Amino acid sequence: MVANTTGEGWSSRRAFVLAAVGSAVGLGNMWRFPAEAGANGGGAFVMFYLLCVLLIGLPVLLSEVLIGRHGQSNAPESVRRVAAESGKSTRWAFLADIGVLGAFLVLSFYCVVGGWVLYYIGVFLSDIFTSGLIGGAFEGRDPAEVEALLPNLFGNGALMLGLHVAFLAITLYFVARGVSGGIEWVATWLMPAFFILFVAITIYGSFTGGFEEAVSYLFTVNFSALTGPVMLAAVGQAFFSLSLGVAGMMTYGAYVGRDVNLAGTSGIIAGADSAVALLAGLCIFPIVFAAGLEANAGPGLMFQSLPRAFQDIPFGSVIGLLFFVMVFFAALTSSISLLEAPTAWFKDRFRMPRPIATGIVSGGALVLGGFAAWFWGQPVPVLSDIALFDGQDTFSILDTLTSRILMPVGAILTSLFVGWVASRRLIDSENGLSGGLHHFWLFLVRWACPLALIVILIVGIFPSIIGE
Ligand code: PHE
Repeated sequence: MVANTTGEGWSSRRAFVLAAVGSAVGLGNMWRFPAEAGANGGGAFVMFYLLCVLLIGLPVLLSEVLIGRHGQSNAPESVRRVAAESGKSTRWAFLADIGVLGAFLVLSFYCVVGGWVLYYIGVFLSDIFTSGLIGGAFEGRDPAEVEALLPNLFGNGALMLGLHVAFLAITLYFVARGVSGGIEWVATWLMPAFFILFVAITIYGSFTGGFEEAVSYLFTVNFSALTGPVMLAAVGQAFFSLSLGVAGMMTYGAYVGRDVNLAGTSGIIAGADSAVALLAGLCIFPIVFAAGLEANAGPGLMFQSLPRAFQDIPFGSVIGLLFFVMVFFAALTSSISLLEAPTAWFKDRFRMPRPIATGIVSGGALVLGGFAAWFWGQPVPVLSDIALFDGQDTFSILDTLTSRILMPVGAILTSLFVGWVASRRLIDSENGLSGGLHHFWLFLVRWACPLALIVILIVGIFPSIIGE
């Protein structure tokens, strides 16, 4: 067995599960999933998404955690060790270098959206004082004015920048404190708090009158709606939501003890993540439908339609505040994992104390995300001339670059590495699977995942193939 060189680790299996679920459950579930499902016609998207989680996401998740646990180090070093022990080229570590870069880039724009969440916490908090506790939110204000809160925020570069820095600073604080003292602490307190708030708000939302409509919207599958772009959106969402392809799960895997069964634990992580995504739909859509609003508001669903819908429901300001606090908890446990992957690498590579490594990585994300916030909506010179980034601003380019290129490439290489390169003995001793399930998983990582992901990568780079 390889010695743990990080000097850090989870105190229990429960801590790992909470931290990994914390990484997976985030803005991807609460903001992106309902928005994507709504923009892509509901049921067909949801069904295909679940299929992707099961057949592509889960096998890759197990592969990532497995590499981390066996390597017991930062992501690239873990891959290097697995490769060396298997008698193969240590250049494979490159796959995790891409991941670490991806995590850094996602972190940069993730914290910008985290900043919006902070903004809405402030908005609802102050609204409790103006509208009172009992009635709807934003009493006496024009609905258009409530929906305009988001574009107004976008128009205020300095505020966006400040919020981004605030969210990043909170993330930094916990990562700098280390695995058991910081990351684990947040996960153990905030994830249960998140679940309690989430279930409570969903139950409350189910009484608003739009619940049945939401259920039929999310679960009625119309196969003709399953077009190329819908499938691409679903698989991208599955990957983003499971935190795959960016070395995050590999990094967390390195802190896992030998006694943990990785297959079972990965199943729990993927199951919890999908359950939260579906529940997020069942939390948001009833409230939105009850207010007579449309499902297809895209990114504006959570930040515009929902606040507008809170105008109509009793205790609207309080529910709004609790809702955004809950989203904040989910987002923070994810951004922490995004910062941890590059930090762990930096710390080992340059032999520096954790707080300094955390500070340096955060400084980079501050600048890059700061650009995205400050130059919101402004096409990036030169880059936005490239077809893939057609007319996009910094924020969208970071999103496109990571979700369409880096994440799929990272995941393709991970599945190829585990399926074909790493020694069978090593894999068999780590994955916690046996019998038919073991063979099925091996088939998926060897064939199904790389092939499906290669198609996704090509279509992602040349969306015109599927007429997007
Ligand atoms: N899975 C997180 C979410 O759903 C985002 C994330 C992506 C976190 C990649 C870590 C790594 O919000």
